[in-house]
Amino acid sequence: MDKQVSRLISQETKRQRNQLEMIPSENYASRSVRAAVGSVFMNKYAEGQARKRYFQGNSIVDELESLCKTRALRLFGLSENDWGVNVQALSGSPANLAIIAALLEPGEKILSMYLPDGGHLSHGWQLPDKKVTLVSKIWDITFYHVNPDSRLFDYDQIAKQAKEVGPKLLISGGTAYPREIDHARMGAIAKSVGAYYLADVSHEAGLIAGGANTSPFPYADAVMMTTHKTLRGPRGAIIFSKKELSQAIDQSVFPSIQGGPHEHTIAGIAVALEEAAAPEFMAYAKQVVTNARVLAKHFVNEGLDVVGGGTDKHLVLIDLRNIGASAWVVAWALEYANIIVNRNTVPFDTGSSVYPSGIRLGTPAITTRGMKEAEMHLIASWIMEVINEVGDMKVPEDKEQRKAFIAKTKKELAINKKILAIARDVKSLCAKFPLP
Ligand SMILES: Cc1ncc(COP(=O)(O)O)c(C=O)c1O
Repeated sequence: MDKQVSRLISQETKRQRNQLEMIPSENYASRSVRAAVGSVFMNKYAEGQARKRYFQGNSIVDELESLCKTRALRLFGLSENDWGVNVQALSGSPANLAIIAALLEPGEKILSMYLPDGGHLSHGWQLPDKKVTLVSKIWDITFYHVNPDSRLFDYDQIAKQAKEVGPKLLISGGTAYPREIDHARMGAIAKSVGAYYLADVSHEAGLIAGGANTSPFPYADAVMMTTHKTLRGPRGAIIFSKKELSQAIDQSVFPSIQGGPHEHTIAGIAVALEEAAAPEFMAYAKQVVTNARVLAKHFVNEGLDVVGGGTDKHLVLIDLRNIGASAWVVAWALEYANIIVNRNTVPFDTGSSVYPSGIRLGTPAITTRGMKEAEMHLIASWIMEVINEVGDMKVPEDKEQRKAFIAKTKKELAINKKILAIARDVKSLCAKFPLP
């Protein structure tokens, strides 16, 4: 009925079909998940918790939300006697805000991971002269950093810092940290200083569910995960918390921060949780990690600086400074080659968030399409060809020169013969691996 939106949906479907989606936080939700999200549950207001609603007409919604919560606990092997679960947070950032607001009084201290070292904005990101996030405006934030040599966490250093700072909350979890976080150690550090431990496993949720990454549940007081990354559900979030904290967290989500929950999203999350409990999902999670490891190894062998020396997860972070290539140029050149990655900050970055020094790529979406080791080698060699083709093109420091460079470079990349040839090869590969 709406030709304009319909045209855009068709175009986006085509784009997703013909390009390699390699942003680590993206995936393809199944048709069943999308059907649930597009269902009549979107018509219903359901403020409150199941069987304690402020609106009439919610008996079926209550059943849906309870089913979703039961499935969430079951997927991660949790008992409802020990853990509470909230599936109403609209996404990861409001979920983190709700947890922090429930556990801390304004002004209390948080120790969290530094953003350029792979942390997330919602853990209180701030600059020395600017409180960028609401969390940083309300609470007192200190960051911990990776070790300059290994670019990995130094847990002794975090323990020392925790003693000095005395936080009420320790947060782990990142967007660009390629190695597994030692939740046992982080939980112990938090305990030793009387802090809560929040494990934000937004990126790893599906890998944990599928047995490919370690579970934080034995060590954390609260676990937050987005549902749309490796878990392969709709955009949303799940908050798990120790039973004694769960009422405060429920009340923090509603009425403190949000109004009516998006029950259609909760329907989609319920479907995704059931899909993730199937044996095929375990194979998927393991293949995601295998694929990322193949990519990382290929890049290391080609002389690229792979942060952390490899990966335990679904993502690979490459610092391009050792070969002098610009991440902005590489990311755009790859897009013209039908390969979608992020340009990303790397530890000890000398660039900015818009012009950082690295690229971040991930395997969740391409693994959902069924791609395996052979395809990873092919993709890695295309990426190397693109990097070699544009490695000399540098973004100028000067703002005016940069503006002209950006306009000129995008035009050049769009007609570059080598890049266009790769774009055709990528499209042919994609045709062999249909979307769900
Ligand atoms: C670790 C982590 N936490 C929280 C979020 C926030 O999620 P959302 O974008 O749904 O607000 C993200 C999203 O990338 C994330 O990676």
